[in-house]
Amino acid sequence: MNVLVIGSGGREHALAWKIAQSPLVEKVYGAPGNPGIDNLEKGICVSVAADDFDMLAAYIDAQNIGLTVVGPEDPLAKGVVDALSAQGMRVFGPTAAAAQLEASKSFAKDFMTRHTIPTADYGVFDDADEAVAYLRKVGAPVVIKADGLAAGKGVTVAGDLPQAEAAVRAAMENHVFGDAGNRVVIEERLVGEEASILAFCDGTTFMPLASSQDHKPAYDNDKGPNTGGMGAYSPAPVVTKPVMEQISRDILAPCVAGMAKEGMPYKGILYAGLIVTDDGPKVIEFNARFGDPETQAILPRMTTDIVPLFLACCDGKLEQQKIEYSDWPCVTVVMASGGYPGAYKKGMPIEGIDAAEALGDVVVFQAGVKQERGDLYTAGGRVLNVTAMAPDLPAAIEKAYEAVKRIHFDGAHYRTDIGEKALRRG
Ligand code: AMP
Ligand code: GLY
Repeated sequence: MNVLVIGSGGREHALAWKIAQSPLVEKVYGAPGNPGIDNLEKGICVSVAADDFDMLAAYIDAQNIGLTVVGPEDPLAKGVVDALSAQGMRVFGPTAAAAQLEASKSFAKDFMTRHTIPTADYGVFDDADEAVAYLRKVGAPVVIKADGLAAGKGVTVAGDLPQAEAAVRAAMENHVFGDAGNRVVIEERLVGEEASILAFCDGTTFMPLASSQDHKPAYDNDKGPNTGGMGAYSPAPVVTKPVMEQISRDILAPCVAGMAKEGMPYKGILYAGLIVTDDGPKVIEFNARFGDPETQAILPRMTTDIVPLFLACCDGKLEQQKIEYSDWPCVTVVMASGGYPGAYKKGMPIEGIDAAEALGDVVVFQAGVKQERGDLYTAGGRVLNVTAMAPDLPAAIEKAYEAVKRIHFDGAHYRTDIGEKALRRG
């Protein structure tokens, strides 16, 4: 079978890398993909944009593609799954209606209220003055979220009221997130450690993947501006067995059942971003797709062929599947362009990927990278995801950073504390 992966980041490289390991798969196509995908033995990239649904459909038809896996949220929210499945194509991902769980924070919050899924208390506002009046009532600390998709940048955790009010005005009056900020959600600040739980869903059944933890802020010790994610590890010890049971029972099960009941059966990956509070796990966001960079830390541990899982989700047969993992933890460190998430330079030559992978049990997933005449250059904010596995977490962390040290590009920036929260748990 030929498989198409839509998207161009490190998550998509990890997906294509895992898909290529399936004996069922002949070729893995990336649209538009990246050099990491193109350089896989079974990999081919095509310059079709992720949101050009007509071109995607024509390509799927022409290349006899039997399964399409959608990476990023934008094409999902725009209805890529609706468009392609209407033509009889097998596509892994939620419909636009189901993807509202990510694309509209107010939809997700109201849905959680309807189905008593634990989450932070909140209000939804279309008017800046009303939002500010609510802020004055609830006080700080408080969290302000743009309602729509804002590339992971639409959230402000405000320590005081002036900062909170500024965030409301920036979103609603200055439109710094475009239309995505015309409506805001104002939320109680939760306290606890974060974790990500991703689950395969086929519309009625769900199957969680191994737990993981992202590192959102740009600098060590969770300082600096929020990013798309600076590193991840799996498993996340904060998700103990009882916590995982709570997540399945109180969050995933009612979510999947609720979406089906409301006529939007959820197929694809359901990603629950959680804070494990003293009162148990609570949802801070749902995403409608694989996490980036969580996926890069989860998939290397998965020993099961992923392709039958995708097919089972598309066909409503997930119940018959199981997923197995290596006991070895996995750590991925994001090497970013200096300045990210602000302005950064592009076009820096990248060296040392082969030397890093020569360490063994290391794979370097490529994100913001372009290739010219066989050489690799930086082409985005998050450039590489340097990923390592080892028998225990300290060894996996050490190996990941040893691999990072073998790679060079001008201005490279990375956090030096990926995985430390798990180490502190002992
Ligand atoms: P999000 O884009 O929704 O993942 O939010 C970005 C970051 O803001 C999260 O990773 C959390 O660290 C933080 N955050 C979001 N919502 C809350 C909340 N209700 N309480 C505390 N922190 C939050
Ligand atoms: N790592 C966070 C996300 O994928 O949204």
